[in-house]
Amino acid sequence: MTEDTSKLNTSKLGTKKYWDDFYTLEHSNFQSNPEDTGENWFDDNDAELKMIQFLEEHLHEQPGLKSNARVLDVGTGNGHLLFELREEEVFDEEAEFVGVDYSEVSVQFAKDIAVEKELDVRFEVLDLYDDNSGKDLGLFDVVLDKGTLDAIALSGLTFEEGTAVELYSSKVAKYMQAGSVLLITSCNFTEEELIGYITREPTLEVWEKIQYGSFEFGGVKGQTICSVAFVKK
Ligand SMILES: C[S@@+](CC[C@H](N)C(=O)[O-])C[C@H]1O[C@@H](n2cnc3c(N)ncnc32)[C@H](O)[C@@H]1O
Repeated sequence: MTEDTSKLNTSKLGTKKYWDDFYTLEHSNFQSNPEDTGENWFDDNDAELKMIQFLEEHLHEQPGLKSNARVLDVGTGNGHLLFELREEEVFDEEAEFVGVDYSEVSVQFAKDIAVEKELDVRFEVLDLYDDNSGKDLGLFDVVLDKGTLDAIALSGLTFEEGTAVELYSSKVAKYMQAGSVLLITSCNFTEEELIGYITREPTLEVWEKIQYGSFEFGGVKGQTICSVAFVKK
């Protein structure tokens, strides 16, 4: 039987206060030195680079992976992934990039970086589990998650309908349409676990995978980081 790691490992990394404090510090470092745009999560594993290369290599292979895609980064933090995607020009200029996060501090920080870098990326406050937030965002062609489901897993949050991890894919799928792609990178779940949780949402099916070596996260050693791409039916 596969161990359900989502039920272990709950830690301070799963609280909004942790992320507000984290981005308050990053924001203040940035204010003293605009070159310092904060942490690139999973940098040791080149996760961001691999995600960007994946999107580039597979562009046009799914209806959602089009040059003028609407791209949503859930739990965007300092927005690093979207800024990098913009700078690498994987998508055309008219592609729309939106980063959302439940930490208001992170959203303000990412907005300030966008101004400093003069990059066209929009940021909004959105809690994935608040059905009243994000209503006017519309549907997206590409949805990205780097470390957000992992942070959610560490929260140990449970709702009437299930745990936050169990509900995650249904929350994300509501921003997708047929042919949209969800590319998600996790170090808290094995590839098998990740696929199990995401495909709880019946409209999402596995499309492609990126493999990595072993990694350390939240003090837990020997887990594998993985990226899996899903497509909405
Ligand atoms: C590990 S960080 C990753 C940040 C960013 N994706 C990156 O790669 O640098 C997890 C992010 O998820 C955000 N987050 C956690 N729970 C969330 C929720 N319910 N809704 C939106 N964002 C959330 C946190 O504020 C934090 O920015």
